[in-house]
Amino acid sequence: GWVRSVRSQKEVLFLHINDGSSLENLQVVADPSLGTRDLTFGSAVEVQGKLVKSPHRMQNMELKAETIRVVGPCDIWSFPLKMKERHPLEYVRQFPHLRCRNNTLGSLLRVRSEATAAIHSFFKENGYVHIHTPIITSNDCEGAGELFKVETSNEAMESAEKNHFFDVPAFLTVSGQLHLEVMAGAFTHVFTFGPTFRAENSQSRRHLAEFYMVEAELSFTESLQDITQVMEDLLKTATSTVLSKCPHDVELFHKYIAPEQKVINVTGRCCSPFMLISYSEAVEILKQAAQTFTFKPEWGCDLQTEHEKYLVKHCGEVPLFVINYPYDLKPFYMRDNEDGPQHTVAAVDLLVPGIGELCGGSLREERLHFIESRLQRYLDLRKYGSVPHGGFGMGFERYLQYLLGVDNIKDVIPFPRFSHSCLL
Ligand code: 4AD
Ligand code: MG
Repeated sequence: GWVRSVRSQKEVLFLHINDGSSLENLQVVADPSLGTRDLTFGSAVEVQGKLVKSPHRMQNMELKAETIRVVGPCDIWSFPLKMKERHPLEYVRQFPHLRCRNNTLGSLLRVRSEATAAIHSFFKENGYVHIHTPIITSNDCEGAGELFKVETSNEAMESAEKNHFFDVPAFLTVSGQLHLEVMAGAFTHVFTFGPTFRAENSQSRRHLAEFYMVEAELSFTESLQDITQVMEDLLKTATSTVLSKCPHDVELFHKYIAPEQKVINVTGRCCSPFMLISYSEAVEILKQAAQTFTFKPEWGCDLQTEHEKYLVKHCGEVPLFVINYPYDLKPFYMRDNEDGPQHTVAAVDLLVPGIGELCGGSLREERLHFIESRLQRYLDLRKYGSVPHGGFGMGFERYLQYLLGVDNIKDVIPFPRFSHSCLL
């Protein structure tokens, strides 16, 4: 492991070492003669000895060392992490190659790993088939044009303009939904959980250029409630699994990174019932708000983060579903509610405290004549055994922000070099 502290006393040498398996360090007790000059904070060591019951209250076990070998020394003067210091996230962000040896990032990455496993097992246990949807694709599922283009770096080929490597223009995926819809037409319940790319230059605390999205697609689904139920179950199950698998890692965030989040207690995150309002009700609530918004709330306009946060607060700081958005605001695949000529669609966004939108989903327009003028293959799916279906996507990084109370999305990913979110 790596040395987290060295304390040399006259009779005894204490080391705390950590191998990344948990927030807790292993205490090593040694004869001072085993200490060497390069046995410092940050160095990598191999210690052999006997694990014994510890007489100290602080830990169960300790290692009585027989040999200590410094595998990789560490120059403590230039090493940016300091012994026993609680470095702020802004500070460690400057050292993307070393920050994983800091407690906070260590905990974050263990939580990320447990949350990933919890999400996979939730779907597996509920009979979903996991589909690897393509990363390189020619579809712009959301139709928002926020695409990264995939081309070869070969300049000769590039200059020949029309000579695309794949014959057609290709992009990094913005969503696996359309591919999932194909598979839901055979496996009924499917999900994907992979990297997703958006070229939105928004420099915000909740947008990344590369992020992970969990997406589910369910056939034979005729009401939005079938979709909201899965979102709610997924969040509650994954959250309670993470809380039971790594309670200390989560606690570190609630204690030191977002202490103000104590108001939404941890069990509340997985136990309180989620609320549900319609988009029209949401706009009414916003119009009656005493607060003035940068963007004036108006029926037909998209909900901004400031609106989303207000709505969550108004409903008591619990997760809130907003359903039935204006037809014109949403992508082509959402199902017409037929409550007027192209008035609203069966869309749902899940808004959570501190973040705003965490999931977005909808019933899909499965009726051929409603989308006839659109995509040919999408249309084909409506000709051969078309069933009512719907699904949703959840931003994994936003889930981690929500779970742990982390303000900047950059702080919940392992390597932020090409994250494109704001620095501060
Ligand atoms: O609301 P979005 O755009 O929905 C879709 O892409 C649907 N096709 C999903 C589906 O129904 N299968 O994205 C889903 C979620 C958002 O609610 C948000 O949490 C997250 O993905 N997200 C981002 N997270 C980080 N950085 C970005 N740039 C994000 N864009 C979306
Ligand atoms: Mg959305």
